[in-house]
Amino acid sequence: MRVIAIFNVKGGVGKSTLAANLAWAAATCSARRTLLWDLDAQGDGGYLLGIDRATGSDGTALFARETAPERLIVPTRFALLDVLPADPGLRKLERFLFALGKKARLARLTEALAERYDRIVIDCPPALGEISAQVMRAADAIIVPVVASPLARRGLADVRDELRRIAPRHAPMLPVFALYDARRKLHREAHAQEPDWPLVPMASVVERMAVERKPVGAFAPATPAADSIRRLWSGIERKLCGS
Ligand SMILES: Nc1ncnc2c1ncn2[C@@H]1O[C@H](COP(=O)(O)OP(=O)(O)OP(=O)(O)O)[C@@H](O)[C@H]1O
Ligand SMILES: [Mg+2]
Repeated sequence: MRVIAIFNVKGGVGKSTLAANLAWAAATCSARRTLLWDLDAQGDGGYLLGIDRATGSDGTALFARETAPERLIVPTRFALLDVLPADPGLRKLERFLFALGKKARLARLTEALAERYDRIVIDCPPALGEISAQVMRAADAIIVPVVASPLARRGLADVRDELRRIAPRHAPMLPVFALYDARRKLHREAHAQEPDWPLVPMASVVERMAVERKPVGAFAPATPAADSIRRLWSGIERKLCGS
């Protein structure tokens, strides 16, 4: 089992979109038993896979070991792909985890799911704190969506510094240009400076996911955006398998 975190301290950079698409690609392209764990109270990652936020549960109960993850997990309409949905209780999780003082609680919870899943993709809230610190300690790969602009790249340096501080032995970090617009000069320049970073094009078909409530590969497979997701996932999969 491998844990893939989708993380950035910045909001609105495409984390949830990427999390939903990559989780789908893990299940569909690599036939991995996959769980999308939606740790952001907004619940966007699950929403994009057709799953609503849970109303009858409290996101902290799992971390308090008062409930088992199996009781909260729901299947999606896609083979091999389940979601551990967000709920409004997650808004309290930051303070709860801090008070709990168990730095590896999230890692223990993912380990407990290792028999059931091959890949766990975690959609993180846009913040640095105890939740993200625990995710970083549990992750085998950290995917950081960034906008192709000079400011976003500065933000990435902050993420790198912070990662070193909260999780000194953290997994490899993979930046991705997640909203890449080839018509913009600054985007092209950012890409020229980092030609090895994968990119997902800015495309209306990706925005459409919120209407279809499906990953782009499920309703528009023959588009450059869907293609970029498949390529990005196979690169991650290769890294996870050490080849
Ligand atoms: N490649 C893309 N092309 C076009 N629109 C995109 C693309 N990726 C993401 N978006 C859009 O950008 C917006 C932000 O995306 P998303 O919600 O995934 O970001 P986020 O980082 O998870 O935000 P938050 O920090 O609020 O959780 C959404 O409206 C989404 O549809
Ligand atoms: Mg999000």
